Amino acid sequence: MPTVRFTETVHGPAAEIDAPAGGLLVDVCDEARAPVGFSCRSARCATCLVEVLAGAEHLEPARPEERDRLARVGASPCARLACQAVLRAGDGTVTLRSAGAR
Ligand code: FES
Repeated sequence: MPTVRFTETVHGPAAEIDAPAGGLLVDVCDEARAPVGFSCRSARCATCLVEVLAGAEHLEPARPEERDRLARVGASPCARLACQAVLRAGDGTVTLRSAGAR
């Protein structure tokens, strides 16, 4: 069962959620009330930027529109857009830190 951990940031407290079916990270964030902001939900604003601190192998590779936005904002190599990233089903833990503006 994949678990997603959110570290505490200025945007909010730490949170953790089990996401047995995987799916869009935005849905996991909503369910966990995670400290990640969202606006467009379509890879345009980068408000949902997160840094993957561990467990990146439990996320599907970024699609072209996500890679393009990450490049445009000069994101670090470990960054993902939570509105675009897809969590793989299966065992493992992904640790994230919000890096976007709110
Ligand atoms: S919410 Fe705008 S890019 Fe994810």
